[in-house]
Amino acid sequence: MSLRVAILISGGGSNMVRLVETMTGDHPARPVLVLSNRPDAGGLQKARDLGVEADVVDHKPFSGDRAAFEAALTERLERAKPDIICLAGFMRVLTAGFVERWQGRMLNIHPSLLPKYKGLDTHARAIAAGDTQAGCSVHLVTPELDDGPILGQASVPIHDDDTPQSLAERVLVQEHQLYPRVLREFAAGLTD
Ligand code: GRF
Repeated sequence: MSLRVAILISGGGSNMVRLVETMTGDHPARPVLVLSNRPDAGGLQKARDLGVEADVVDHKPFSGDRAAFEAALTERLERAKPDIICLAGFMRVLTAGFVERWQGRMLNIHPSLLPKYKGLDTHARAIAAGDTQAGCSVHLVTPELDDGPILGQASVPIHDDDTPQSLAERVLVQEHQLYPRVLREFAAGLTD
């Protein structure tokens, strides 16, 4: 019996696509739901084109009532009965209450070499700091933002003429390799 994976997105879902495309054959997990907080997320149609159920819990109607939004998110998620949740370009900060409900089974990909550059604008910050390396991290989600146990990392060089955009593109290539590898290892560990 395959493990059930729900993937949360907010935008284009390029990481989601790679996760879905690699959950085949002898992979111990299968995607069961792609869920976005934004009705206009480009990743929703990509998920449907890949044959994965895609749905929306729009955060806007909750206008700042984070607990109410997360209650709706949890209700929709629980209908999919996920064993693992992957945050993939999901841009809402989650409360401790939500995280604790799924803790130990929720992964996130962050575009920096954690613990450096938690939060936003990671590439601009690495360039501004004069770093020579950047990269991405997959970690277990804990209540503190971008702070959980790191499950895998990949690094890339920062070039002198890099812009945040050019660096983001280079890191994204590594994200698309790292996240599927880490998810497979994590899922295999749950089935052992
Ligand atoms: C990626 O850089 C990811 O690290 C960050 O969101 C960006 C877009 O991800 N969390 P995707 O293309 O929507 O997967």
